[in-house]
Amino acid sequence: MPELHRLWPRARVGGCRLELCAETLVTMVRYPFLNSSLTFLYWAPMQFADRLNNVETSAIRELFKLLGKPGIISFAGGFPDSAMFDVAGIKEAVNLALTQEPGAALQYGATEGYNPLREQLSAFMKSKGVDVSPEGLIVTTGSQQALDLLGKTMISPGDKVIVEAPTFLATIQCFRLYGAELISAPIDADGVKTDELEKLIAEHKPKFVYLIPTFGNPSGATLSLERRKKVLELAVKYQTLIVEDDPYGDLYFNKAPPPSILSLSKDVPGSRELIAHCGSLSKVLSPGLRVGWMIAPAELLAKATMCKQFSDAHTSTFAQATAAHYLKAGRMPATLANVRKVYGERAVAMGAALKRELGDAIEFTQPQGGLFFWVRLTGAGGNTKDAGEFAKRAIEKGVAFVPGAPFYAADPDVATFRLSFATADVGKIEEGVGRLGKAI
Ligand SMILES: Cc1ncc(COP(=O)(O)O)c(C=O)c1O
Repeated sequence: MPELHRLWPRARVGGCRLELCAETLVTMVRYPFLNSSLTFLYWAPMQFADRLNNVETSAIRELFKLLGKPGIISFAGGFPDSAMFDVAGIKEAVNLALTQEPGAALQYGATEGYNPLREQLSAFMKSKGVDVSPEGLIVTTGSQQALDLLGKTMISPGDKVIVEAPTFLATIQCFRLYGAELISAPIDADGVKTDELEKLIAEHKPKFVYLIPTFGNPSGATLSLERRKKVLELAVKYQTLIVEDDPYGDLYFNKAPPPSILSLSKDVPGSRELIAHCGSLSKVLSPGLRVGWMIAPAELLAKATMCKQFSDAHTSTFAQATAAHYLKAGRMPATLANVRKVYGERAVAMGAALKRELGDAIEFTQPQGGLFFWVRLTGAGGNTKDAGEFAKRAIEKGVAFVPGAPFYAADPDVATFRLSFATADVGKIEEGVGRLGKAI
């Protein structure tokens, strides 16, 4: 008999596939009646890295598969509206990059980033009250890469990281990939509750605290000025690194939000060296450019740069040169004014429609910026309190949104859900929310 007991364990522990193949082929010739089971042995499952045991495919991706249904109005995505991209301005920037420095724009570049872009980003941050030199920031491939680099450089398996409940789903997945144990800090409309945060820091001594303090995804919440200062004091008191993820801070509708935590660090002695700040052009200019940046203490930037070398060598020089010319041309203020106006109108329309169509079946805080409404089903009038169930009914009525549960690292509030007002115009928003009213 062929030594099946010998082949099988070898296949399961991921033993040499070639050896298994050769041995299997010999056996198949000698014992043709066993061919089907041996073929099965050859196709033994891949032995993936243990770190993948901590993460799952996003439930949201599963939902996105349903969005192809004709006629669906989607409030599900976290994208800006592609109709709002400043194509003319980007075209001009591309032309300038290709005529003025084609060699550099199409060549390999420095891992830290393309210097003309670092200079422009330094000036952009200065306009927002942050004094940072071009060398004090690195360019990343979207701010998502900055989060990944923070995971790579800071998290060892079993390390604790505090995140808001709820928080950005990709961050949960990314930090878990590096083996982090995520601790959830509660929030309200004014952002993370700093009293609770202090208790959690004292108890868990986290590697760092990750916050989206301005127009959070998914919560839409903005950390109050008072709490921002408190966060900085906690950083100093407990010598804890604070990661400020800020892709939405420029997207305010009327009143500017409080200054970033990084900008306020100049008022709290010793805090600047404890802040890592991630920025992005994705939500205001174009996510396809994949231009983000990270400002952090020099030691941390050096380690992140080293890890970036092994990862993508550098962010596309072509995209960086384009972004640099775009910023240099001085187009950003007009672009910001435009997106603030259009998204602001859509947010107002969605808030009014939600009140009209869903009344006391839901509760929410009207967002003052960003892209999202964070909504809670109240169960009033015997309506459902399960947002997953509501999402299924909504799809049947032709409207999609994302249930809130996946945005929690632990103890999900299943009554919550997220609506994006960014990609539908006012007419579609009213129609879509009308359909939600019929689905409840
Ligand atoms: C809170 C938050 N951080 C980071 C990102 C990543 O953005 P990007 O990589 O496009 O800069 C997103 C995108 O949705 C986000 O919502």
